[in-house]
Amino acid sequence: MKNDTKIAFIGPGVMAEAMIAGLISQNVISPASIFASGPSTARADELGERHAIKTGTDNAAAVEDADVVVLAVKPQRLDLVLKDLRGSVKSSALVVSIVAGATIDKIGAGLNHAAVVRSMPNTPAQIGEGITVWTAAEAVSDEQREIAREILTAFGDEVFLDEERFLDMATALSGTGPAYVFLFMEAMVDAGVHLGFSRRVAEILVAKTFRGSVDFYSKPDDPLHLARLRNQVTSPGGTSAAALYYLEKAGFRTAISRAIWAAYERSRELGVDSSAHWPESLPEGSQ
Ligand SMILES: NC(=O)c1ccc[n+]([C@@H]2O[C@H](COP(=O)([O-])OP(=O)(O)OC[C@H]3O[C@@H](n4cnc5c(N)ncnc54)[C@H](OP(=O)(O)O)[C@@H]3O)[C@@H](O)[C@H]2O)c1
Repeated sequence: MKNDTKIAFIGPGVMAEAMIAGLISQNVISPASIFASGPSTARADELGERHAIKTGTDNAAAVEDADVVVLAVKPQRLDLVLKDLRGSVKSSALVVSIVAGATIDKIGAGLNHAAVVRSMPNTPAQIGEGITVWTAAEAVSDEQREIAREILTAFGDEVFLDEERFLDMATALSGTGPAYVFLFMEAMVDAGVHLGFSRRVAEILVAKTFRGSVDFYSKPDDPLHLARLRNQVTSPGGTSAAALYYLEKAGFRTAISRAIWAAYERSRELGVDSSAHWPESLPEGSQ
C-alpha cells in the first residue's frame, strides 16, 4: 500500500485508535493520510493531537477522498452511519468493516458499494497482539485484499477465510475470547486470595501461568495436542487430577461450549437486527 493511501476511520473509538496507532508506528501510512470522524469534537481533538491525523465530525466529508473507509462504530450505530455515507464513498474505494455481526450484504446494500471487507479483531489489538479473522466480497480486487491485509496486520495477526459464515464463529471464539480468558483469570486470582495470597501476588502468579502456558503450547517446533500437555501435569492421584475432577464435574467444558455458542447466536442476531435486546430476545431455554 502506498504511504499516501487515504484512509478514513468512521467511529474514532478504542479499536480505530489501535489501528491508527499501529499504521503510524509501523510506517504503513503517513498520519497526514488518515482522517477519523465521529460525533464528539473533544474526541476528535484528542486523536488529532495524539496522532497528528486529520479529524472531523462530518462522516460524509471524511470519506469523500478516501481510498479506504474503515467502519469502526458500534453495531447499534451502523444503520445511521451507512445512511450518512451512502453516495459519498468513492466507487474505487475499499470499505473495511470491523463492526460485530454486520454482514457484507448489509454494508454493501447500505452504501450501495460492492468492495467490502468484513473483519473481526479482538481487544489485544490495542497492544498490537490481536488476531483478526476477515473475509472479502467478490468485488474486492487482489490489490485491495493486500491493502486490507496490511491494515489489519497493523494491530496483530490476521487469518483470511473465504466464507463469510466463519466471521460469526470467529466473533464468538476469538473476538469475544478475551472476555472468557479474563473471567477465568479473575476467578483464579480470587481463588488465590481465598487461599491467602495478597491480590497482587495472586495476579502475578496467574498472569505468568497463562502467558507461560500459551508460549509452551505455541512452541512451533514441537506442536502438541492440548490434552497431552494437560496430561503432562496430571500425575496419578495428584493435585491436577483432584482439581480437574471438580472442573469436569461442574460442567466446565459444556459451560465454555454453550457460552461460545451463545456468543455465536448473538453475533448472528446482531447481523439481522442490531437493536435486538439480549437476553430477552433469546428463545426460551437457550440461555
Ligand atoms: N473492542 C473490541 O474488543 C472489539 C473487538 C472486535 C470488534 N469490535 C467492533 O469494533 C467496533 C468498535 O468498537 P470499539 O470498542 O472501538 O467501540 P468504541 O470505543 O465505542 O468506538 C465507537 C466509536 O464510534 C463513535 N460513533 C458513535 N456514533 C457515531 C456516528 N454516528 N458516526 C461516527 N462515529 C460514531 C463513538 O463516538 P462516541 O463515543 O462519542 O459516541 C466512538 O468513538 C464495534 O462494532 C465492535 O463490535 C470491537
